Amino acid sequence: MKKAEIILEDKTYEMPVIVGTMNEKAFDISTLRKDSGYITLDQGYQNTGSCISKITYIDGEKGILRYRGIPIEELAIKSSFSETAYLLIYGKLPTAEELHTFSVKLTENAMLHEDMLNFLRSYPIHSHPMAILSSMVNTLSIFYPEEFSMDSDEGSVAFDLTAARLLSKIRTIAAFSYKKSIGEPFIYPEPDLKYAANFLNMMFNSPTKKYNLDPDIVKTLNKMLIIHGDHEQNCSTSTVRLVGSSKVNLYSSICAGICALWGPLHGGANQGVIEMLEDIIKNHKNIKGFIEKVKDKKSRTLLMGFGHRVYKTYDPRAKILKEDCMNILNKFHIKDPLLDLALELEEIALKDDYFLSRNLYPNVDFYSGILYRALGIPTNMFTVMFAIGRLPGWIAHWKEMHDTVPFRIGRPRQIYMGEPLLHYTPMNNRK
Ligand code: ACO
Repeated sequence: MKKAEIILEDKTYEMPVIVGTMNEKAFDISTLRKDSGYITLDQGYQNTGSCISKITYIDGEKGILRYRGIPIEELAIKSSFSETAYLLIYGKLPTAEELHTFSVKLTENAMLHEDMLNFLRSYPIHSHPMAILSSMVNTLSIFYPEEFSMDSDEGSVAFDLTAARLLSKIRTIAAFSYKKSIGEPFIYPEPDLKYAANFLNMMFNSPTKKYNLDPDIVKTLNKMLIIHGDHEQNCSTSTVRLVGSSKVNLYSSICAGICALWGPLHGGANQGVIEMLEDIIKNHKNIKGFIEKVKDKKSRTLLMGFGHRVYKTYDPRAKILKEDCMNILNKFHIKDPLLDLALELEEIALKDDYFLSRNLYPNVDFYSGILYRALGIPTNMFTVMFAIGRLPGWIAHWKEMHDTVPFRIGRPRQIYMGEPLLHYTPMNNRK
């Protein structure tokens, strides 16, 4: 077995080298502090592996993304969201019977307890849908308070039910929060509709105007959810793992993940891209002027939807979404000035040394918002759509962590730089 050596104060410490199935290399420093008194410092976790995982593989240099070994490009075309959710959570593609059982469980758990609607109805009308979603998901832990441990047969049955509840109810919560925001009655889930179609029906059907489910729209939504399914140790997934490592229930762990996703540097960037494009049209005379502002660090302006911690080339998800954007807008004869602007921005940025030298390319959020607009989803719900798609990944990571032996609470260390020692000063002696 290979070993890494670290020399600290003339003493050599050996650490085991871990090599992943795709030849990713690490050395295990978990005993370093015990042996030497040193910790490693890595602000923002740029170079820290927090776990060993079998769920998702990313090669950021080559633009590769695979769920359980299967390329995202294949899943996007050939799979359904329910099937991909099963793959992520249970580690393999389901047989016909397994998929049937899983789908039945989703159908049976699609409704919300009617008492939960009291909470939903009492949120202020302009509440952000991400705030409603996270609150309602945590509220599920009030309605389904039973605790379970993953190390028994009963535990894994309870996990299956909890996962199905979450996967199914999240789309009902999302659609109901939209209906509330526009003052329309809730449209209940239909047992005969599949996952994406059911969501669209709850969002856009109404007692006075029938919503026609277009197969291309349903297919596109399915694809968008699949593409967002998992992305290994990103900010929200790491949050779900960290919060879940305290052994709090799955609903509350997912609630924490939703909150982490909301931020504009993470999943909130899809809303941020549309707001940026609208701002450019309204307030900037030309795109080049806006790009110059982005390059001027003092302006603190980001090109939203560009850049990624892991991808140093074009995000493979953005490639798929860009193509779908063109197809859907063409098919429905939609002329969206924001798409033209996004294409132009991309072209300029990808010729500019600022972006090239920093390997800044479009990420998943650059084109997803334009596509969501074409599907009729309002801008403030884009990150909710991301959360629905990412849910199987969060659940899969929570399960993987709880299945890992030995199980450890997540607890990083720090380097303290505060006062060495001070004594309490009475109020009248303070300055
Ligand atoms: N616009 C302008 N400059 C950028 C951008 C951007 N979008 N992204 C990174 N940079 C610059 C940084 O200022 C930095 O420049 P410097 O080397 O001169 O200091 C350099 O590129 C490296 O960037 P970091 O901030 O160190 O990259 P990090 O990995 O920490 O951040 C992040 C990644 C948060 C995604 C960043 O690229 C960003 O803020 N992008 C815009 C927001 C966004 O689209 N987020 C969605 C990401 S995808 C997802 O989470 C689902």
